[in-house]
Amino acid sequence: MKAYVYRSAGDTYRLAVEERPTPTPGPDQVVVRVRATSLNYRDHITLHNLAKRKVDGRIPLSDGAGEIIAVGTNVTDWKPGDRVAGCFFQTWDGGRFDLSHHKQDLGGSVDGMLAEEVVLRAGGIVRIPDFLSFEEAACLPCAALTAWYSLTTRGGLQPGDTLLTLGTGGVSVFALQFGVALGAKVIITSSDDHKLARARSLGASHTVNYRTHVDWDKEVWNQTNGRGADHIIEVGGPGTLGRSMNAVAAGGTIALIGVLTGFGPPTESLFPLLGRNVSLNGIYVGSRADFEAMNRFLTEKTIRPVMDRVFGFSEAEAAFSHLASGSHFGKVVITVP
Ligand SMILES: NC(=O)c1ccc[n+]([C@@H]2O[C@H](COP(=O)([O-])OP(=O)(O)OC[C@H]3O[C@@H](n4cnc5c(N)ncnc54)[C@H](OP(=O)(O)O)[C@@H]3O)[C@@H](O)[C@H]2O)c1
Repeated sequence: MKAYVYRSAGDTYRLAVEERPTPTPGPDQVVVRVRATSLNYRDHITLHNLAKRKVDGRIPLSDGAGEIIAVGTNVTDWKPGDRVAGCFFQTWDGGRFDLSHHKQDLGGSVDGMLAEEVVLRAGGIVRIPDFLSFEEAACLPCAALTAWYSLTTRGGLQPGDTLLTLGTGGVSVFALQFGVALGAKVIITSSDDHKLARARSLGASHTVNYRTHVDWDKEVWNQTNGRGADHIIEVGGPGTLGRSMNAVAAGGTIALIGVLTGFGPPTESLFPLLGRNVSLNGIYVGSRADFEAMNRFLTEKTIRPVMDRVFGFSEAEAAFSHLASGSHFGKVVITVP
């Protein structure tokens, strides 16, 4: 069977297609015939070696969905034909995070989903909602779950709260959709007015172009009548955290998620967090139990992931380049024939 792998190319990696043995399940594993995968900014980080991870020979991507084609001898919960998605952390079933899960992240420490067939832990998969296609379901494991976990399990978002989410990539568009469905007033930023118009059609109440309004924190402050946002989906990192701290409401929550502006320290004082009694939540995706709760919510509200573009299996490099361009709105998908 065919699989993409990362191969060392000097200081960075390249994608290579290789032939691998057809996998067979261990006693507590299943084999999934992958039908679709999706990209996250983390995969761009890995390919370009921005986080200095050793992944030579590793199959990329945390996100994929498909059908079970074989189950191990101890597996009773699953059968061939079941439609499933893999969990980002194969071993985080629920509850509090444990550092051991870092050794079980798909497409990072262990092989990921960009292959025709993959072996996964029977406890490291979820059933996908019937109304979603494989392409749509492949968008869920990282970006959607990160937004869901930030807003619900960790953020405790309530109807009527104000949510600010930055940019219109995978995590932020899911945050917009979840925020609207949970009854929040959602403010979203983007570098592109066309994307902001699209965000309004998905229910955003207020939008700010962060290119033309460099002081977007002041815009958020004004749009909330000097109260600030109760929840902020902070995907920018050091280059945006200062303004997020200016835009957060007293007693609010900042979900510290991303590194779109790099991995360095913030240049601003963290003092506003104290002065406003703000919670700063470090977020790393979410557990299988959160994934299952999110799928129930998606089904109840009939929320469909927003796919920007679907690439074929032979076009994986083009898909990575498309994500890197930042021209997308929502998710970038690769199908597996
Ligand atoms: N901690 C976790 O569990 C976790 C999980 C998922 C993702 N992440 C991180 O979260 C970030 C987003 O991931 P993703 O997969 O959603 O990325 P993505 O889909 O590649 O999002 C890219 C978009 O982010 C926006 N953006 C870029 N720079 C920005 C800035 N300075 N201010 C505001 N928006 C900016 C742009 O939107 P516009 O074109 O609209 O301007 C860009 O198109 C990444 O850093 C990723 O590593 C972390």
